[in-house]
Amino acid sequence: MSQNFDFLVIGGGVGGLSFALKAARHGTVAVVTKRARNEGATRYAQGGIAAVQSADDSFEEHIEDTLTAGAGLCRREAVEVCVREGPERLRELVACGVQFTHRPDGSIDLTREGGHKKRRIAHAADLTGAEIERALIASCEASPNITFFPECTAVELITLEKAARASLHAQNRCLGAYFLMPTGEIETFLAKVTVLATGGAGKVYLYTSNPDTATGDGVAMAYRAGARIANMEFYQFHPTCLYHPHAKSFLISESLRGEGGILRLKSGEAFMKRCHPMADLAPRDVVARAIDSELKRSGEPCVFLDMTHLAPAYLIERFPHIYATCKSFGIDLTRQPIPVVPAAHYQCGGVDVDLDGQTTIPNLFAVGECACTGLHGANRLASNSLLEGTVFGHRAALRASTLLDTPMDVVPPVWDPGEAVPSDESVLVSHNWEEIRRLMWNYVGIVRTDKRLRRAERRLAMLREEIREYYWRYNVTRDVVELRNIADTAMLIVESALRRRESRGLHYTLEHPDKSEACRHDTLLTRGDLERPL
Ligand code: SIN
Repeated sequence: MSQNFDFLVIGGGVGGLSFALKAARHGTVAVVTKRARNEGATRYAQGGIAAVQSADDSFEEHIEDTLTAGAGLCRREAVEVCVREGPERLRELVACGVQFTHRPDGSIDLTREGGHKKRRIAHAADLTGAEIERALIASCEASPNITFFPECTAVELITLEKAARASLHAQNRCLGAYFLMPTGEIETFLAKVTVLATGGAGKVYLYTSNPDTATGDGVAMAYRAGARIANMEFYQFHPTCLYHPHAKSFLISESLRGEGGILRLKSGEAFMKRCHPMADLAPRDVVARAIDSELKRSGEPCVFLDMTHLAPAYLIERFPHIYATCKSFGIDLTRQPIPVVPAAHYQCGGVDVDLDGQTTIPNLFAVGECACTGLHGANRLASNSLLEGTVFGHRAALRASTLLDTPMDVVPPVWDPGEAVPSDESVLVSHNWEEIRRLMWNYVGIVRTDKRLRRAERRLAMLREEIREYYWRYNVTRDVVELRNIADTAMLIVESALRRRESRGLHYTLEHPDKSEACRHDTLLTRGDLERPL
């Protein structure tokens, strides 16, 4: 038995929901999410959505800032498309009910973040992602063509090549995916078009701003299915997450620096002035590396973000969520600097896609953080990600709607559990989960070396083997699916990092500290490359 749809969307963030809303005009859509329907990174995005809005800004300047942050690796057409189509997508979000913060004159209030030379970031106070997610979910719920399936974990994509009855001569394509349902059963969902919208992989690292859902599912499944994966070495570390023993993953938005926040050492020194001409508003890679280097030099556990020179009433109104959260940890940001550290934040590489979100496997699309459109290059510009999700969600839906004549004539085999039994060894899952995240933090973090990467590669090869055996021996659970995905994603990051023999954007290695023109190309991996290490 299988469930059949025109469009199957795996993940419910801004990219997936933007796709679903548009695709639902043409056919039936299933939106399948691992946890609650609104749980994912979009909901936690604070800063905003970048799009040219004001008379003193221009497409050329937004393009230029994006290309500069991307350090020579952005795909120019992707940047052009995103920047030029951004304002129209923003208007659609407003039409769909998103309530951005407005200025007294009625225009949308625009903030600034690192790497932007102009104010061009629309925001809803400091809860922009939550507001966008709320409005998109409400619109999707109102569509009779969209069905949500929460608490269902994607286990594996189904391709024609893998389905038992594939014709040897037929072109491969994606047929859908197997899901672990809340009942514990594995069900088959078939669709003419499958869309990966699974978000990033921050949980690959010990410290991250990401929610628990960010386990690299889309990239790992696409890699195993044979899709091309691009630029996984470029993992962005956000410079400022709250440093507090009980604060799990709490982001301190870059827009605090956009509104005048100053990073200081314990001594009070405003150190960013000596690191970059844009000081506290330098691109993220520069700020995260500067903090990392100060922490390594001083042995201190954190640096401080100082907002105390700004009016308390303004801070409380502009950053209500951050103010209240810091207060709940005993930190009054109007009176004392906020302790902050960098943490894994955003995956700039991903499943390689064209300008319509199409992957290298026909009928398989990818949107949002799990996709590599080429917009971010070697380093993402702040607040370009919600923009990318809406623009490419829209474009992917347009292209996908032309595939509705895809035949649904192949019936793939139902999931075969083989000899699997309930696990009596769950300790392997928790141990390996912890080990991968720690080794990635220690060996594959902000500053890398060949030796540390090789060490990570060796450990990951062993762990992946153990996890593979466990996966086939015991009944599938969400924990095991996620563990397998973070292991594969971690290995993709390490192998990509080993292949890039230069420092560029987010990838910084001590052996090759400079950019090299010869290395100015994407790092591309396909199935089998992890089994044939360099
Ligand atoms: C932030 O608010 O600093 C995060 C925005 C982003 O990651 O684009």
